[in-house]
Amino acid sequence: MEVLDFRSDTLTKPTKQMRERMADASVGDDFYGEDPTIRMLEERAALLLGKESALFVLSGTMANLVAIRAQVAPGSAAIVSASSHLHLNETGHLASIGGITSHPQPTPGGHFDLKALAKAYPVQKSNAKPSVLAPKLKAICIENTHNGEGGRCLGVHEMRLLADFANNRDLVFHMDGARLFNAAVALNCSPSDLVSPVDSVSFCLSKGLAAPGGAVLAASEDVINEARHWRQMVGGGMRQAGILAAAGLMALENNIERLSEDHDNAKLLAVGLREAGLNLTVDDVETNIVMAYLPESLGEPDTFHSLMRDIGVLTLPPKGNRFRFVTHRDVTRVHVEKAIQHLARLVSQVTEEMTHV
Ligand SMILES: Cc1ncc(COP(=O)(O)O)c(C=O)c1O
Repeated sequence: MEVLDFRSDTLTKPTKQMRERMADASVGDDFYGEDPTIRMLEERAALLLGKESALFVLSGTMANLVAIRAQVAPGSAAIVSASSHLHLNETGHLASIGGITSHPQPTPGGHFDLKALAKAYPVQKSNAKPSVLAPKLKAICIENTHNGEGGRCLGVHEMRLLADFANNRDLVFHMDGARLFNAAVALNCSPSDLVSPVDSVSFCLSKGLAAPGGAVLAASEDVINEARHWRQMVGGGMRQAGILAAAGLMALENNIERLSEDHDNAKLLAVGLREAGLNLTVDDVETNIVMAYLPESLGEPDTFHSLMRDIGVLTLPPKGNRFRFVTHRDVTRVHVEKAIQHLARLVSQVTEEMTHV
C-alpha cells in the first residue's frame, strides 16, 4: 500500500545531490570558528535576512531559547502566543532554563489583537515606579508562519505594528520563523523586508527547506555573540558540523522558491477535503498547512484517524476534531490527488455505515 504522509514537513529526506554536497563539504572545528561551511551558511543567512550576524544551531527549539535568553535576563517576562510552538512544544525552556515567565495571549488565525494587547500592556509613564512584585516585561515573541493556527502569515505591515508596540514598551521583538520562507513566498515579499522589524529571528532548515537538521538565528552581532554563549551552555557547540551546514546551504539555494508548490498542493488538498465532507475554510490556507475539522456525523476523530491510517493517509493524531495536514517536497500533486480520492471514498463508507447504525 502506498503511504501518503501528511504528518509534517519535517519528514522530507535529503536527496542524493544533498547527500553528495554534505559528503564534499569543507569542514573544520567550529569551536575555533574554523568550519568554512558553517561560516558560509551563517553569512548567507545574515545577508538573506538583512541582519548583522547569524548563528547555526541544532534546532528551532534551541534557536528560540538562545535568542530570547541572549536578550532577556532571568526574572523577566515575555508575551507569547498561547498556541505557539514556543509556548506549547518546547518543554517550557523559557521558564526552566531561561528563568523567564510567559504571558500567553490568544492569537486566533495567528494574529495578536493589537488593541487588546495595548490595553493589557499600556505604555508606562516615564515617571512610573516599576513594580517590585511583577516580573519585568521584556519581550514579545511571535510565530510566522503560525504552525498551530494553520500556517497563517503575518505580513510586513502587521510586523511593523508589532514592532511599534514593542518599541514603545522597550521590549525585545523575537520572531520564531521556523517557516519564515513559507511566509515570504506566500506574501511575495523578500525575507529581509519581512523580518526587518524584529530584533531576532530564527528559521528551520529541516522543515519545508528539506535539510536533515539545523536551524539559524539571525540578529545583531552583539546578540549573536551572546547567543553563542547560550548555545554552548545548552550543549549546542559543534565541531565539523559543516557536513550539516552544507545541506542547509543547498536548501537555501534550491528549496525556497519551490515552497509555492507545497502551498498550491495544500490549497488543492483543502478544496478536496472540503468537497469530501470535512469542515474547513479554503481561504484560511495560506501556506503548506491545512487544518480540517471532522463533522460529528463522521463519528469519533480517533476512529477516523485509524481508518485513515488503514488506507495509507497519515496525519498526526487529531486535536479534538481537528486534523492537521502538512504538504512538503516529498508529497507531490499526484499524491495529493490520490489522498483526496481515498478520503472521499472513506467519508462515503463511514457515512453509509453511520446511517445504518
Ligand atoms: C513554529 C515552530 N517553531 C519551532 C519549531 C521547533 O523546531 P525543531 O523541531 O527544529 O526544534 C517547530 C517545529 O515543528 C515549529 O513548528
